[in-house]
Order: sequence, then C-alpha cells, then structure tokens
Amino acid sequence: MNTQTLAPTKTALPPGPAGLGFDRLRALSRDYLGPLRQWHAQYGDVVRQRFVHLVDYSFLHPDHIREVLVASHDQLIRWERGTEVFASAHGHSVLVAEGADWQRQRQMLQPAFAPRRVESFVPRMVEAAREGLQRWQGLAEFNFESAMTQVTMEVIMRALFSRGDEQQGRAIAAAVHDLGVEAMQEFYWPVSAPLWMPWKARKRRALQLLKRFIEAEVDHRLARNETGEDPGASTDLLGLMLAAQDAQGQGFDAHALRDECMTTFLAGHETTAAALTWWGWCMASHPEEQRRVADEVQAVLGERTPTAADLPLLPRLARSFKESLRLYPPAAALFSRRTTAPVQVAGYTLPAGSMVRITPALTQRDPRWFLEPEAFRPDRFDPTAGHPEIPRGAWLPFGAGPRVCLGSHFALTEMSVVAALLLQRYELQALPGRRAPQPRLDITLRPDLPLHLGLKRR
Ligand code: HEM
Repeated sequence: MNTQTLAPTKTALPPGPAGLGFDRLRALSRDYLGPLRQWHAQYGDVVRQRFVHLVDYSFLHPDHIREVLVASHDQLIRWERGTEVFASAHGHSVLVAEGADWQRQRQMLQPAFAPRRVESFVPRMVEAAREGLQRWQGLAEFNFESAMTQVTMEVIMRALFSRGDEQQGRAIAAAVHDLGVEAMQEFYWPVSAPLWMPWKARKRRALQLLKRFIEAEVDHRLARNETGEDPGASTDLLGLMLAAQDAQGQGFDAHALRDECMTTFLAGHETTAAALTWWGWCMASHPEEQRRVADEVQAVLGERTPTAADLPLLPRLARSFKESLRLYPPAAALFSRRTTAPVQVAGYTLPAGSMVRITPALTQRDPRWFLEPEAFRPDRFDPTAGHPEIPRGAWLPFGAGPRVCLGSHFALTEMSVVAALLLQRYELQALPGRRAPQPRLDITLRPDLPLHLGLKRR
C-alpha cells in the first residue's frame, strides 16, 4: 500500500492571461524576459497560460522550482521542439538525450568533470589566460566580451583536444554566435526549414564549420589510437571520453564521441564567456569591490601563478562570481520542460504534456530572497555578514536536480584562474560616456552592445 501523503490539490487553475497566446508568443520572441517578468508581477508565483495547443506553467518560487527539478525529475523531459533545435548541432549528446540514454551518458561523462579531474586542467587554463593577457598588453581599452570568448574557447580547446588555435578560434566563435541567433528564432516556429533553403545559408555554414572542426579532431585521435600513438589520451577530456565505459563495459562509438565533444565544446565555453563578461562589468562598475577582490588575490598569490590549491583561499573572489551569476545568469532561462505524467507542483496538478518554465534571471532578482535585488552586493553570500539565509532553489545559475550543469566546477575553476591572473596585473575600468550594458537573451545572456572596458596596469 502506498502510504505517501500528498498535499491537498488545489482544484482551481492557477491564474494567467487568457486566449491562445499568438500575441504573447510574439512578445516572448522579441524580448523573452520582459513579458515573463510582467506576467509574474501581475499573477504571482505560478502563471498558467495557453500557447496555441500547449498549456504552459511558469514557476518563480524556489520551493516550486525544487518540486519541478528535483522531486518531479522522472516525470519531465525537455521540451521536444527545443531539443530538436539543439540536436542539429549536438546530435544525441547528454544535453539532448532523455531517460536511460541520458543516464548512461551522464554516468560515463561524470568522472571527467569531477573536482579532482578539473584541478588537473588548471595549468591549461593558466596557459590560455596568459596568452590572452599578452595579447591585451598595452591596450588602454578593449572589447572585453570578445576577449573572454577567445580565452574560454582556448581553454576548452586545450582541455578537450590538448591544442589551441587562435585563428581558427575566431571563425568558430562567429559560427557559434550565428547558431545561437538562429536557434532563438527557430524556437518560435513549429518546424525548422531544411538547411538547403536560401535563408538558412548562415546556419548551414556555421554548422558545417563546427562539425568539420569537431570531426577532424575526433577522427584524428581515433586514428592515432588505432596505431598506438596516443599522446595525452588519458589527460584531456577527449581522452577521458575515449576511455569511459558504461555498466556493461561499452564505450562511446565514434558518432557518440563527436556529439559529446560538440556539446562539451559549445556548452563549455559560451556560458563561461558570458559569465566572465558580466563579472568584468560588475568589477569595472564597482571599483571599491574590485579593489577588495584584487587585494585578496594579491595577499594569496602575490606575483605567483595560481594553482588549484590556491583557489579555495579566494572566498571574496568566489562571492563576486556568485553575485554576478545571480544578477546576470548566462542560462537566464532553463530549457523548457514537458511533463510525461501528471505532477504536483505548488499544490496544483499539472496534466501530462504540460510545458514548464523556470527562469533563474527572474527568481534571482526576487526581493523576497535578495535584499536590494538590483544591487551588486557579493557580501550577501558571506554567511558571517548578516544577510538573511538564501533559500535553496533561489540561486540556480547552474540549474538544479539530476540535470544540473555537468561543467559547473570546470566553469568556476576556469573563471577563478582567468580572473585572478587578470586582477594580478590590471584594474578593469568602465569607460566614461558609455551607458551600462543591458542584458539580452540569445541562448546565453549577453550585453546588448559589445562591452568595451578600460585596462589600467596595477
Ligand atoms: C558559467 C558557466 C556555465 C553556466 C552558467 C552553465 C549553466 C548550465 C545550466 C543552467 C544547465 C542546466 C540547464 C537546464 O536544466 O535546463 C547546464 C547544463 C549543462 N552544462 Fe553547463 N553551464 C556553464 C558551464 C559549463 C561548462 C564549462 C560545461 C562543460 C565543460 C558545461 C556543460 C554542460 C552540460 C553537458 C549540460 C547538460 C547536462 C545534462 O543535461 O545532464 N557547462 N549548464
């Protein structure tokens, strides 16, 4: 007998706008976060609405978010249309797979992203960041966003394939950007036009470039593996993926390896670039806080290159990341989900087939959990500073539950290395006469204008 007691289910439907939602879909496609913010302000923590044939629920409250992502994980899949759009680049990787396939892939990949492994990538992260710093030497101002994209791409290339290529990196960065812009548009269409259509030329070219790049790297490594030459095979991410086995002792085949590499490459640099970009802006626009963080870096490292052992000694730096990830979460909206069976959230029963939305960018600026939510105040994450406790589920830049970001430790380690090396040498400055950047969602949350910052030698 099932003795589980369920909270009483509310019989009324949650509030929300009426109608089929064509106009609301148009509004979301123009500015995703604005309309969602407005609906929650009007209707409260749970908003239910119809988008043509789909019934959609949006949740804001941390408890409800955990009910969705943690308690109801087994009754959720990612929204199929979103998955379809991502699959054109990611194939059937861990980002896209569901059910037993996803579980197998996640278990095989997990060890490569464990903290111990990630520590072994610190020297590669240092190398990539140092080269970046050399390129910026002598510049009074620079495009901080593209500099961070370049550095994070160099890091992931070195971590995945044990090599970096500045020239190729630039073309790839442009392709990644084009894919993101295309994907944001495609989500709002029921099907994607075939790639041979003339107006798909930009996506076609971007996909071709990225796939060729990944295929060449994987095939080259597989060929070397067969002939017994296998440099660095067990030390980079591709090497670890090649060695990974499931419970039956099976590894990834060549096709699966290409898909996983594509996901690690794409998920592994764009979000981190966005996170570092916004962190740079927060530092430049809060010189006092920047000075305190730089003092901590100076006290721990002096002129020394950071190692993995130094990173836990930089709590103020870590808090500055937490706060910039709160204000500007790169994954501002999680992948929309669909229920595969009825689930209970916030006391309501969501029927099978419902859409579910969770938007960290909104929850993380809720004044109920974050006093003065628009202000940059890293000390709110200092347990000794007297800020009211932040409930679980209120800060979720990496998601939550079993599908939480696979690379969160990698990302935070990389951010610490890049930031520490930068602050050892330079002060970041906001440029006079430029307005503050506004966040804009293009898969990742980016500044609406290219972010240029000033650099002053310390
Ligand atoms: C600051 C940087 C990053 C942020 C903010 C971020 C954020 C996220 C979020 C929110 C999710 C879950 C999405 C959802 O539940 O809908 C996710 C998933 C994922 N992330 Fe990250 N990520 C970052 C960096 C990375 C890095 C560096 C890697 C790999 C090297 C990575 C690999 C992945 C993968 C593979 C998934 C899918 C996991 C699964 O579905 O099981 N991410 N990320």
